[in-house]
Amino acid sequence: MTERPRLLPLLGHTGRDAMTCLYRCGNACDHPVPNRTDNPYLGDVVHTEMSRRGVVRAGAVGALVLGFAGAGAAAASPALATPAAETAPVAEALLASLQKGKAGPLTFKAIPPNKLDTLIVPNGYASAVVLSWGDPVLPGAPEFDITRQSVQRQSAQFGYNNDFVGVLPLGRDGSRALLVVNHEYTNEELMFPGFTGLEALSVEQLKIAMAAHGLSVVELERVGRTGQWQPVRARRLPYNRRITALATPFRFTGPAAGSAWLRTAADPKGTTPIGTLNNCAGGVTPWGTVLSGEENFNQYFVGGDAAPEALKPKLARYGISTTTRVPAGSRRWDRAQERFDLAKHPNEAHRFGWIVEVDPFDPDAKPRKHTAMGRFKHEGANVIVAKNGKVVAYMGDDERFDYLYKFVSDGKYIPGDSAHARRHNLTLLESGTLYVAKLAGDSPAAEIDGTGKLPADGAFDGTGRWIKLVSGNRSYVPGMTAADVLTFTRLAGDAVLATKMDRPEDVQPSPRTGKIYAAMTNNTNRGVGTNPGVDEANPRNANKHGHIFELVEDRGDHTGESFSWSLPIVCGDPADPSTYFAGYDKTAVSPISCPDNVAFDSAGNLWISTDGNALGGNDGLFATAIEGSERGHLKQFLTVPLGAETCGPFITGDDRSVFVAVQHPGEISGASVEKPASTWPDGDFAKPSVVVTWRLDGGPVGS
Ligand code: FEO
Ligand code: CA
Ligand code: CA
Repeated sequence: MTERPRLLPLLGHTGRDAMTCLYRCGNACDHPVPNRTDNPYLGDVVHTEMSRRGVVRAGAVGALVLGFAGAGAAAASPALATPAAETAPVAEALLASLQKGKAGPLTFKAIPPNKLDTLIVPNGYASAVVLSWGDPVLPGAPEFDITRQSVQRQSAQFGYNNDFVGVLPLGRDGSRALLVVNHEYTNEELMFPGFTGLEALSVEQLKIAMAAHGLSVVELERVGRTGQWQPVRARRLPYNRRITALATPFRFTGPAAGSAWLRTAADPKGTTPIGTLNNCAGGVTPWGTVLSGEENFNQYFVGGDAAPEALKPKLARYGISTTTRVPAGSRRWDRAQERFDLAKHPNEAHRFGWIVEVDPFDPDAKPRKHTAMGRFKHEGANVIVAKNGKVVAYMGDDERFDYLYKFVSDGKYIPGDSAHARRHNLTLLESGTLYVAKLAGDSPAAEIDGTGKLPADGAFDGTGRWIKLVSGNRSYVPGMTAADVLTFTRLAGDAVLATKMDRPEDVQPSPRTGKIYAAMTNNTNRGVGTNPGVDEANPRNANKHGHIFELVEDRGDHTGESFSWSLPIVCGDPADPSTYFAGYDKTAVSPISCPDNVAFDSAGNLWISTDGNALGGNDGLFATAIEGSERGHLKQFLTVPLGAETCGPFITGDDRSVFVAVQHPGEISGASVEKPASTWPDGDFAKPSVVVTWRLDGGPVGS
């Protein structure tokens, strides 16, 4: 190897390998924090109007809003559902699967931390790979051969670095499903034999990488009567689909569609972006679509130094370099498609960073990017149906010191699978109101000393308000139009002094209680140098291990503007006094670091996957009760192979299967196809893969 990509020394801020930093986030942590505002952080916020603690009675929410457990969605009550049409068994099937859920208290025996190059599950469970990078997706796609990859092959095969996983029932008998998966990014050094550096890749290889990004839709069938699933192999696979960064046309919806910010030479109307980038987490909607977050899109662009001067602060706020022609570690996609050069096409960057909605049941439907939901480094979006029928999406902006958001639809969810209901529900995310969170703690600032020591009232907790940014075409941010707010949402959040969080990743409502759970993955810059200091919601300096944030909307009203919050779990080694597990006996819990994605089973247990375990072991999947006396009794359920992070996770509505995405196995400095750091799953070289885990006796997982 003559020239490897610029491999940075291990940064020490997380357990992430330097390769992850380069390929996944474009070395985001090595760059200045994009949020340079001097917003008061939580400790400074005056507690006015925020002192009242809202209390949500779980029963009150659960009575009206039941969810498709684990789907990242909450659907309306079965009592409200109408009979389904045979041709569109979507919402009905989601509800039916929920009703088959039998999860209960978590009884599995925790597995220990480890550094094994394999996937480990508890005794009594089995696991199997469902799909790996390169497996055929479209009918007639060739079998994978790493030495013969081409744009054409990759465009018909399963993409790289699977992240979000959604499994939607197909039909009502529980034997078929549609798997929808994000392919967040590529590891060219682990994809191309003989790789010598990103700059040396051919244009064909660049396009292969672009085709390995995006999403896959794959029809699955149950294996016998078990919790195992496998891809359907057939001559006709009408739902199977690849969506790529290379060539798939999308449609913008909402108030910013067609705005001047979104127009380019190739699309002068500003309505039809090509492709999707860095799709991270996501969610399944009650109407049977998938939402997918475009996250670290900044790293795909060059030429920010030659962008119009007036635009530079806006680009910089999104982490795009405005001082360097070609930032270090650039993928140089501009060599394949000129649109990635901002010197020539400065608006192209604004066409990414959105929430994407894909209808897996309609393979001909153009996927959409919803401008009404704002533009930032979207981790994902998860929807719940509010008591009044509006749908509410909770979202995180995954960057150090960035914000939590929610979107409330104008329209109301129509239950059932009638053509009318489906047509209507598909429009719900196209218009509504976008809010950003501003928090206050209820303990004196002096008691939040940055060590993780609990304040005198025994909890990191407080209240908060949802600050309205934009509603339809009406902006609530002085000096910004609605299109400005939606396209440069981070700047709108800055203007209203939103609360700077420790990298908000997945944000998801519990379908059982309506409470919202968010993973703050880590922030080693908290309280370091001139960066903002701790506050009660982000209470540790140099936060290496992250925490779980719980938000309870006042009166259980998901469309409301006030809430209370607390931190049920402050992550790390339980022997570390800065950790907290809801007061549970710390000798009985598993160590956890860098929470990323969350999911729920039908009993409402909280499942948490990790990315970048800074404790030294492999990443994994954990579960804990979140209500009652077992709250905080966190146990490790699964670990992934060397170098990988655990994504998904997804628990099917019948609780019989847990899907996880094993992302970037073997992503360790110095590794290559020829010298793999992981040989999972097939013993030769590492391949990102989606895995299903099930209980050997067929019972509900975890219980
Ligand atoms: Fe793609 Fe925020 O992790
Ligand atoms: Ca407190
Ligand atoms: Ca993530």
